Amino acid sequence: MYPLFSNKEKKNSQEQLEKEALDPQRIPNHIAVIMDGNGRWAQKRHLPRVVGHKQGMEVVEVITKAASNLGVKVLTLYAFSTENWKRPVDEVNYLMDLPVKFFNRFVPELISHNVQVNVMGDESKLPKKTQVAVHNAIEQTKSCDGMILNFALNYGSRTEIVEATKKIARDVKDEQLDESQINDEIFAKYLMSEQLHPYNDPDLLIRTSGEQRISNFLLWQIAYSELVFTEVYWPDYKPQNLYEDILKFQQRNRRFGGIKA
Ligand code: IPE
Ligand code: IPE
Ligand code: MG
Repeated sequence: MYPLFSNKEKKNSQEQLEKEALDPQRIPNHIAVIMDGNGRWAQKRHLPRVVGHKQGMEVVEVITKAASNLGVKVLTLYAFSTENWKRPVDEVNYLMDLPVKFFNRFVPELISHNVQVNVMGDESKLPKKTQVAVHNAIEQTKSCDGMILNFALNYGSRTEIVEATKKIARDVKDEQLDESQINDEIFAKYLMSEQLHPYNDPDLLIRTSGEQRISNFLLWQIAYSELVFTEVYWPDYKPQNLYEDILKFQQRNRRFGGIKA
């Protein structure tokens, strides 16, 4: 007897079912992802770590499209932390080259999906070619008004908070701001995430690869985010995994310190 569905059709129908299980009215506006596990994915296959990063780049494209199709407003992806400079120079060089490769290949597709590119982090420390690739992608997608694809590149949350504090101190000194005005809302305006206004804070934070830590990511902004940790390595992460993680988000009860609705 012939199977009714091929494996591919079965997979697609399963993916479709996961998608249909979601409440379209409660898709998180801002999803942030700590894309972790590239190295272990490669090592498990006896491949160099950078092969994991390459595969991870392909996954960025697929997940970007899936998130955009769901109506997500901001997708923030942690691509390189301020601590990742500690890695071997060859790996760092490869990671600095990835945005060049990614944008060269995918900008036309991002435009066709109406996706706007944004970057947060200290760009000045990036190699020139990476800076150019980033600036071109931002420029080429600036009139897209669908989802914002926000890369955290050479990003560290403590540095972001320290820099915001310095700027506030300068503004107070220059009498642009009075100390009595400083509150949560004003403070948030000095953070890099202000570029994402009004979706500065992630509703959902996903970390892949089984690690359960934040690794200096969006410390201020995740005060009330729902956290989902999944065992899947980033290069294996599929739209179906995204739908499952959003479903977990939809099953949570967000109270923000209040009582159950
Ligand atoms: C995440 O994968 C990508 C970056 C940090 C750039 P890793 O490279 O951290 O992969 P693991 O955690 O070593 O498996
Ligand atoms: C966090 O992953 C940074 C990125 C995903 C870019 P790491 O792999 O660098 O985090 P740790 O070292 O395991 O905390
Ligand atoms: Mg890691």
